[in-house]
Amino acid sequence: MSKKIFSGVQPSGNLHLGNYIGAIKNFVDLQNQKENQCVYCVVDLHAITLKQDPKILKDSIRETTAAFLSSGIDPNKSIIFNQSLVPAHAEGSWILGCIARMGWLNRMTQFKEKAGKDKEKASVGLYIYPILMAADILLYDATHVPVGEDQKQHLELSRDIAQKFNSDFNVPNFLQVPEPLIKKKFSRIMSLKDGTKKMSKSDASDLSRINLTDTKDQISNKIKKAKTDTMPIPSKINELEKRPEVENLLGIYSSLNNQNIEKTINEFSGKNFSDFKETLADLVVEKISPISKEIIKLLKNKDHIDLILKNGAEKANEEASKKVKEIKKIIGF
Ligand code: AMP
Ligand code: TRP
Repeated sequence: MSKKIFSGVQPSGNLHLGNYIGAIKNFVDLQNQKENQCVYCVVDLHAITLKQDPKILKDSIRETTAAFLSSGIDPNKSIIFNQSLVPAHAEGSWILGCIARMGWLNRMTQFKEKAGKDKEKASVGLYIYPILMAADILLYDATHVPVGEDQKQHLELSRDIAQKFNSDFNVPNFLQVPEPLIKKKFSRIMSLKDGTKKMSKSDASDLSRINLTDTKDQISNKIKKAKTDTMPIPSKINELEKRPEVENLLGIYSSLNNQNIEKTINEFSGKNFSDFKETLADLVVEKISPISKEIIKLLKNKDHIDLILKNGAEKANEEASKKVKEIKKIIGF
């Protein structure tokens, strides 16, 4: 069955191995299944829900786009654009905001986490962010949305909004109810310094993550210094319990090699970590270095990146503005 795929990544710069394995690598795999139609969006309207420096934001939009392109997302196969170039997202979001209920938004755990203790001081945008995400998805009739585990709740909200719209206006199946595509395995890559924390761009220690722009030496060095423990690599998967750092490194290896963790354990069981880390470092360098080289090359030609975004936005605009027009007609404008 052919799928219509939509996904978005915030332009925050500093993309890392977690973003690659958890999101971008899947985007590429989905794109390369011929029957799929994919739309990948740099969600800059989402980014301003937190305070941004305008100059840095502009560069981050290009950097995230460069990471998409360097990882294999092909503008001839997929639509790549940044959200703020397509006004239908903001317009659709207003209308869907009148469908969504306060009670639904009040349950969103990401808002609670991001707003922190002083939620009175959080932007209103941060609160209604999941409605904008619903507009992103629903304006393209997306059937499937690849995201990390952390976005599951937002996707459920998109489904609720689509269903309520269809039923309120008696237009069955008008808004496509999207399915999440969440990888069960390796959907969370953990910090190299603490296997209980997600690898994250906001971690104070750069040694906790592999950035997509790291050099070969940086990658090898970070893997060498990654936390492990004193026991050898286990021979059974259930021996990984309570050894989150070991599980994470074996998971990274398995995922980059497109194999299951059992196969990786068979390959390395009984071996010591220095041997495993060397092989892992070689693999990460093999997969990530070409991407980082290409990102750096692409970023030297900003006009080229801007043109790709502009061309993508034209295609996106055609689809999204048509859907908003239909929505407006249904609601009586
Ligand atoms: P973010 O940079 O947090 O907006 O995330 C962009 C995409 O990368 C989302 O689909 C996340 O679910 C995914 N992602 C972020 N961090 C990780 C991680 N440590 N492991 C796996 N996926 C991640
Ligand atoms: N909220 C997502 C994140 O923070 C990004 C996002 C915005 C998105 N719109 C989307 C993801 C639509 C999937 C579909 O990671």
